Amino acid sequence: EKTWVRMVTAQTPTNIAVIKYWGKRDETLILPVNDSISVTLDPAHLCTTTTVAVSPSFDQDRMWLNGKEISLSGGRYQNCLREIRARACEVEDKEKGIKIAKKDWEKLHLHVASYNNFPTAAGLASSAAGFACLVFALAKLMNAKEDNSELSAIARQGSGSACRSLFGGFVKWIMGKAEDGSDSLAVQLVDEKHWDELVIIIAVVSSRQKETSSTTGMRDSVETSLLLQHRAKEVVPKRIKQMEEAIKNRDFGSFAQLTCADSNQFHAVCLDTSPPIFYMNDTSHRIISCVEKWNCSAGTPQVAYTFDAGPNAVLIAHNRKAATQLMQKLLFCFPPSSDADLNSYVIGDNSILK
Ligand code: PMV
Repeated sequence: EKTWVRMVTAQTPTNIAVIKYWGKRDETLILPVNDSISVTLDPAHLCTTTTVAVSPSFDQDRMWLNGKEISLSGGRYQNCLREIRARACEVEDKEKGIKIAKKDWEKLHLHVASYNNFPTAAGLASSAAGFACLVFALAKLMNAKEDNSELSAIARQGSGSACRSLFGGFVKWIMGKAEDGSDSLAVQLVDEKHWDELVIIIAVVSSRQKETSSTTGMRDSVETSLLLQHRAKEVVPKRIKQMEEAIKNRDFGSFAQLTCADSNQFHAVCLDTSPPIFYMNDTSHRIISCVEKWNCSAGTPQVAYTFDAGPNAVLIAHNRKAATQLMQKLLFCFPPSSDADLNSYVIGDNSILK
């Protein structure tokens, strides 16, 4: 019998939260304790490209990440595969003579090949782009009719932050109320054209991988931090509304103030956790001081900073002029060694600590 392969390739950028998600109310379904808002990066820089293939000649589901085979047996992959298979529809490709009936998808196996266009070891969020891309590519392969918000609720079960990568621009992950997680999904607030003068610069402070995974960190914070309870109930709901207004009005002053305050509160929650979690280091703190001083002396914010579960700084400049000045300041404060590649050098890796 003639065999065949059907393939789909998709590309998904990563996203950076400006109002952070930190803490789950349900670990299996990945349901958060608060809403969050993120900005999706330009796909040219930090993104995942994933090809998914199906063929009657495949005898098991397999996946390769950056060319190396990885296991698909983990619960998060299994949840995504199960949810998307349940939504598969009939596919007909007359040119290739392929017809896959709805019920065939239960028996057919998949091969997945995924690449990150940035070093996975650089400690930059890769799971967000990865799971979003996997779910999107599989939905196309299997002709699932779900829209991107419905797909985001599936990607969420791979990695929480992944649900926000199914849209460009600014995106809100609504925590939802339902116990089954069906209303915990992402919606686009504005598209990438709405505020296109912003320039995002990532300052790689360390290329080492983080010591505390976000899963363990969140669990410890939920169990031990009173600040997290206060943040989720009293602080974030107000900030989400203010952030939505700032984005809608392209009000950079409010946007920067909220973004920096929220990053700092997230890291304060980490310190309030027992045992405390340290994601930022001395270089991260120096970057914060530098930006704060500049914003203060300029009279109005020029740059916003935000840090995820690691020491690298994500800096959002108001426009190209502010971005150029920022680059000059960074080069002055953290001079590269004479042989450094100026497009991508690590500004703080302390060789004594390594
Ligand atoms: O989706 P996870 O488990 O990688 O968690 C992401 C958590 C933060 O990046 C720190 C915040 C966020 O909202 O993306």
